[in-house]
Amino acid sequence: MKKLNVAIIGQGRSGKDIHGAYFVSKRNVYFNVKYVVDLDDYRRKISLKRYPGCEVFKDYRELFKKKDIDVVINASYSDLHYAISKELIMHGLNVVVEKPLAKSTKECQELIDLAKKKKVFINAFQQTFYAPYYDDVIRIMKHDKIGKILEVSIRYNSLSRRWDWQTLQKRVGGNAYNTGPHPIGIALGVLDFDPKLKLVYSKMVHTLMSAGDYDDYCKLIISAPNRPVVDIEINNTDAFNNYNLRMIGTRGTYQTNIMNYDIKYINPNENVKRVPIGTFIEDKDKNPCFCSEKLITHEEHGTYNGNAIDVGTALFYKDLYLALTKKQKMRVTPEIAMKVIQIIEQAHKDNPIKRRF
Ligand SMILES: NC(=O)c1ccc[n+]([C@@H]2O[C@H](COP(=O)([O-])OP(=O)(O)OC[C@H]3O[C@@H](n4cnc5c(N)ncnc54)[C@H](O)[C@@H]3O)[C@@H](O)[C@H]2O)c1
Repeated sequence: MKKLNVAIIGQGRSGKDIHGAYFVSKRNVYFNVKYVVDLDDYRRKISLKRYPGCEVFKDYRELFKKKDIDVVINASYSDLHYAISKELIMHGLNVVVEKPLAKSTKECQELIDLAKKKKVFINAFQQTFYAPYYDDVIRIMKHDKIGKILEVSIRYNSLSRRWDWQTLQKRVGGNAYNTGPHPIGIALGVLDFDPKLKLVYSKMVHTLMSAGDYDDYCKLIISAPNRPVVDIEINNTDAFNNYNLRMIGTRGTYQTNIMNYDIKYINPNENVKRVPIGTFIEDKDKNPCFCSEKLITHEEHGTYNGNAIDVGTALFYKDLYLALTKKQKMRVTPEIAMKVIQIIEQAHKDNPIKRRF
């Protein structure tokens, strides 16, 4: 199998520790890191060792002179995603952009249209769609295991502070733009990408707990007619959160912290049929009492074989390889990434936070 040549822009937590970590791993049989771009001297220097045979540049425009690049990974700061991706597309290069795809729906649409016009590939890196737990959530929903799903709660919460560029609105930072694409993407999936889905409620606040001027409290409620309500929180002031995703169905509950999961449910017809009693209830000694019974329930517990970063990244890149070499449609599309941005854009519009920087 012929490996494709990759150029990575940015060698930070994403470019080095997610994309780079995959490229240097045994899982990678598809791509060869040919060029690395970073503004930082040290990050360029260590890249020479990390990706044997690669060439490094300070300016991504050096890539425009190269004729052997199959795809560029744009893992630069979020406020640069649109402008850099646009230039790459203009120069006929295929692009994978880290999330967020861009700041606005308008920018996303522009990139998608331009890529079509220039006959090049564009997509967003939203690897959560390939995480084992995401597959399981969709499977449980489809197989009716806990009944019809009424509600999905997604929590990316902790009691923690930040002070990096992701705390700045001018850098397109903040919980919605930064972490949001993961849970919002999952929300779109559990709502089966229903064209009628919309942001029903949002609340975004800069709590002053963190530095910067970003939404360190972000609450989003998304739904569509006859679909579950999806309740998302990305909150830096929640000290007691113990799950990442919880689904409440008509017969039970599923919960996961991304790696481990628990399910508890009842099967129809296994328990005594109950009919409503229109007067008081009494116990066997004729004392007033509350409804009480021993339900027959079923429980399952397990651990997933990987997460969005390891397995998710590897599956994204396999999907990307097939898209680039065989023109196959990927599980994640730029249109899905644009829908994510539409929701974030709306939430920001509804909750303006004063810019301080
Ligand atoms: N998909 C995920 O799970 C995930 C995780 C982390 C970050 N990200 C995304 O990745 C992007 C980068 O975030 P990060 O955490 O890696 O940031 P970072 O601060 O750790 O690193 C950013 C790197 O990009 C380099 N850079 C920035 N602008 C550049 C330019 N114009 N030319 C060359 N190099 C440039 C910087 O020098 C730095 O080394 C962000 O958009 C972020 O949202 C995604």
